[in-house]
Amino acid sequence: MVDFKPSERVRKLPVNFFGQLDNKLAAIEKTGAPFINLSKGNPDLPTPEHIVASLKSAVDQPENHAYPPFLGKEKVRLAIADFYKKEYGVTLDPVNEVAVFHGAHIGITGIPQALLNPDDYMLITDPCYPIYYSSAMLSQARTYAMPLEESNRYLPDYRSIPDDVLQNARLLMLNYPNNPTGALATKDFFRKTIDFAQTHRIPVVNDFAYASLGFDHNKPLSLLQIEQAKSVAVEVYTLSKTYNMAGWRFGFAVGNASVIKALNHFQMHACSTVFGAVQDAAACALQSSQECARELVHIYQRRRDVLIGGLSRIGWTVASPPGTFFAWLKVPAGYNSQSFSDMLFREAHIVTAPGIGFGNNGNDFIRISLVHSEDVLAEAVRRIDALHLF
Ligand SMILES: Cc1ncc(COP(=O)(O)O)c(C=O)c1O
Repeated sequence: MVDFKPSERVRKLPVNFFGQLDNKLAAIEKTGAPFINLSKGNPDLPTPEHIVASLKSAVDQPENHAYPPFLGKEKVRLAIADFYKKEYGVTLDPVNEVAVFHGAHIGITGIPQALLNPDDYMLITDPCYPIYYSSAMLSQARTYAMPLEESNRYLPDYRSIPDDVLQNARLLMLNYPNNPTGALATKDFFRKTIDFAQTHRIPVVNDFAYASLGFDHNKPLSLLQIEQAKSVAVEVYTLSKTYNMAGWRFGFAVGNASVIKALNHFQMHACSTVFGAVQDAAACALQSSQECARELVHIYQRRRDVLIGGLSRIGWTVASPPGTFFAWLKVPAGYNSQSFSDMLFREAHIVTAPGIGFGNNGNDFIRISLVHSEDVLAEAVRRIDALHLF
């Protein structure tokens, strides 16, 4: 066998953080030890029945056995525009302001490649979803990470960006509701974001992967709800979390027509089309009653309360996340994210995501996901209590 070398671009890509966690887990599962895996964000509940039924009937349609249109079926683009109107009061042109693809991952890696040139800066946050680093690398761009501090509700301060970075910044990538911190954006922050992007003529993306997950009756804001947002902004939405459809691979981007055009052009070459039956089922999900999505929020909120309430009862006082299905927990004194995560792994057989995997600013935190039943989360609390750390 000839050992062919990957391209320089591929060689520079880091080992996928979640892939690494998977390998660690695969090794444990072989030992049969009773581990609780709270490290990953893979929704544990099934896709609602009406969406599954819609896919089943769409699979029987011969039109779905052929290539669908490059830019997505008209039916799903209309459903997306309709959904944004109903959910956020935002009007979209379904032809020029909507792009569809295989899950948010494709949008957040595709938009940088469609817009950035080598050595441009992509503005991100620290901590952030690690794929943003990879997407900048795929674009041969540089990253500048704005720190997210608890004291500022995990919202970045644009005034902290150095001038030389700002002059070469060609994309701002945000993610609210935020993975890993669970933070929600405020209207004031989104307004400042649009002002900043307009002033410096920087396109801005809000990765809205956790769009539906706001607790205590706080519905997360869409960036496009801000006046004039479409002059500079696009939002990337996915069905993965809203409807437990992570395996189905369907997402879309909406907003600024020039960004959508560049992304569609890139995608035609890089990704091609999404299975027509999945597009039909996505249209069904977006156009049906949203009761299933609201019920899911209640389920995660109850789980959050079991976890955070339980930890507080055993003496570990941590902040309660206002959104997403993650809890971002400050580790006790004397530990960092990796050493605490390793200790929980060794001593309590609990797998968590060390915050350092999301950036240097995450080094005092671990991320725990709520994609487990209340019983499992209560058992995790019992195991932590048994360590007598608090
Ligand atoms: C912030 C964020 N963006 C994007 C994604 C990817 O979503 P999708 O399943 O639509 O590719 C995830 C998945 O965990 C995520 O946490």
